[in-house]
Amino acid sequence: MEIAGFGVEEWLNQWEKSATYDISQSTIDSMTMKEALSLDGKDGEEFYKLLDRKKMNYGWIEGSPEFKKAVGNLYSHVDVDNILQTNGASGANHLALYALLNPGDHVISEYPSYQQLYDIPKSLGADVDYWKIHEDQDWYPNIAELKRLIRPDTKLICLNNANNPTGTFLDKSFLQQVVDLAKKVGAYVLVDEVYMPLTDTDRYASIVDLYDRGIATNSVSKTYSMPGLRVGWTVSNKAVADLFRKYRDYTMISCGVFNDAMATYILHHREQVLDRNRRLVLNNLAIYKEWIDAEPRASMVLPQAVSTSFPKLDVPIDIEDFCIQLLKEQGVLLVPGNRFDMPGHVRLGYCADEATLREGLKRLSAFLRRYDRS
Ligand SMILES: Cc1ncc(COP(=O)(O)O)c(C=O)c1O
Repeated sequence: MEIAGFGVEEWLNQWEKSATYDISQSTIDSMTMKEALSLDGKDGEEFYKLLDRKKMNYGWIEGSPEFKKAVGNLYSHVDVDNILQTNGASGANHLALYALLNPGDHVISEYPSYQQLYDIPKSLGADVDYWKIHEDQDWYPNIAELKRLIRPDTKLICLNNANNPTGTFLDKSFLQQVVDLAKKVGAYVLVDEVYMPLTDTDRYASIVDLYDRGIATNSVSKTYSMPGLRVGWTVSNKAVADLFRKYRDYTMISCGVFNDAMATYILHHREQVLDRNRRLVLNNLAIYKEWIDAEPRASMVLPQAVSTSFPKLDVPIDIEDFCIQLLKEQGVLLVPGNRFDMPGHVRLGYCADEATLREGLKRLSAFLRRYDRS
């Protein structure tokens, strides 16, 4: 099985530990265990008491009933039996694609987005068409183009809502149009939902609340600031969940007793986490917007209270060389746009802690000034 290198992950694997000002990441500033355990006001006392009593066996294979119930509460119409815990959203995407696709299947994937959503299908022998997003349409893809791409034998449409790297989310009415087209040919719609917008939520919907053949993947990594837990999930109808179960047994047993307990705890304190993160996102977005307005070499379709963004940088050199020089000279890390097949842009994760964001942007501007002289 051949597979392309994973552009963004390979970049981060190589450089993220050398950054002093890491404004490349897409997680909303990760919490420490201390911060997370202070959410219940008991500083971990209750949580560790619960954990002390637990045997470190495999735990609940598909996720504990408490975990499934907490995940089920995130949706309007979901049977908790059809929720399966996975190793992050990356594990969820992999499971779904591995279970659903056969060589020759027709897949349509939003592009660019998270590379798993097109390169895993290709590696499985699927026939993948890209459904492109357009900067001049606020990074939305176009329904007319989907109409042209969809075929009677289309098996799966893959979306990433909100989108990494742009931070744009497809609203409910747009998703409904995708569902209407998918329904006509019986295609599944898989939506990676790790980036939930933190404002404007009445215009946002999970695919599983719109479509019986919708499959949602998600995790506590981005919106919930706990990527270190490596806990995610799939939500689908029963037939699809049963298919996933069959494949899941070959690739994972469980996510572990500790991780399940901690992920459940985080979801039980969801409102507090979302309040923390909404404050952080809106505060940082204001700082970022002020910077963009003042920086002549940067322009951007603003992200929508989602923790990733994709500004355009006006630099006269190769964008990857630019990012390497920026890191080496200023300690600032970005992801070059070529890692999403879009040179000319960079992914800028503005939801780092405020001090890192401010210093990172200041240094980025100082570095950009060298091109004003030439
Ligand atoms: C769209 C998207 N899906 C999935 C992942 C991986 O998430 P997890 O940490 O839950 O595996 C990422 C990480 O950057 C992502 O951007």
